[in-house]
Amino acid sequence: MKILGIESSCDETAAAVVENGSQILSNVIVSQIDIHAAYGGVIPEVAARSHIEAIQPVIDKALSDAKLNIEDIDAIAVTHTPGLVGSLLVGTLAARGIAILHNIPFYPVHHLKSHIYANWLSGHQPEFPLLAAVISGGHTQIIYMERHDSFEIIGTTRDDAIGECFDKVAKILGLPYPGGPAIAKAAEKGNPDKYKLPIPKVDNLDFSFSGIKTAVLRAVQKELNLPITTPSYELQKHLNAQQIADFAASFQATAVKILLQKLKKAAKNHPAKSILLAGGVSANALLREELLKTFQNSHQVFFPEPKLSTDNGAMVASAAFYSIKSGEKASNPYELDISPRSIIQ
Ligand code: KG4
Ligand code: ZN
Repeated sequence: MKILGIESSCDETAAAVVENGSQILSNVIVSQIDIHAAYGGVIPEVAARSHIEAIQPVIDKALSDAKLNIEDIDAIAVTHTPGLVGSLLVGTLAARGIAILHNIPFYPVHHLKSHIYANWLSGHQPEFPLLAAVISGGHTQIIYMERHDSFEIIGTTRDDAIGECFDKVAKILGLPYPGGPAIAKAAEKGNPDKYKLPIPKVDNLDFSFSGIKTAVLRAVQKELNLPITTPSYELQKHLNAQQIADFAASFQATAVKILLQKLKKAAKNHPAKSILLAGGVSANALLREELLKTFQNSHQVFFPEPKLSTDNGAMVASAAFYSIKSGEKASNPYELDISPRSIIQ
């Protein structure tokens, strides 16, 4: 079964064709990172306009790269929630139009679910039950799955998402958007033990990241002997490269430690055979290394290849394939709802 997956929930316009949930026939991603970097973050209105320009060429290229015509496609899958409303509208309207015009079965897909299914695209099949850490710019959740299409959220963030925290700390340090890769790069030359950042005390498997962002801000102000009223754009001017590297390394090590602590706790209480990372932050090399060290003797460990960690259409197609296998019926493309927020279920 060949599925065309379309993704436009944030700042990537993406389309891919995937066969039987795991074989990528094409994977086209047009990133708006360069456009948004000028503003230090995603501007929703600009994102929606850029999606409009890119969506049709991206879909056309996904089909031509796969050497297929639209008539060869068995189903169309598209991200319909959660995300930026204007961005979601562009991808879903394009997908609905194609589904209606060519009479192709149509499947809306939840964005977090699709991130998890990026782990089915590297030639391996994670075994159930499994624990998935969905860690992206908008989400931080630990999800327990006993089988395909069964999602139990066992931990979530009470404030900022982990990726958002990487992005905000990068901003404090004067590093470019998106902050995750910039922090990881700067951290290569830094000392992770230089600055002690607090590990938040949060009950059960929940997270809190807003305190660490503030802790970094205060630590930078202290390091530079500047008052706590000094805004971050002022601080950046005074930081030297070594200080930036040390702050980046200390923050990254703390963020990874927090995540691993909670995953260890989750693994104790749940009989999981596999542990998966999903979402943009799963591209982080230190996190992957530490995850392997912690779990490789007790669990099967999976993370998507870096290109599939961040938003893409292939994961949307894969998620739809396994939903179809689990009995999901096609949706009516005339009636699709999009929604900026929603819980995976
Ligand atoms: O999944 P994604 O592409 O979009 C959302 O659904 O949010 O994730 C984007 C997030 C950004 O916050 C970005 O800074 C983070 O993923 N990210 C990383 C790395 N690469 C991307 N965070 C840490 N380390 C990385 N190497
Ligand atoms: Zn995402």
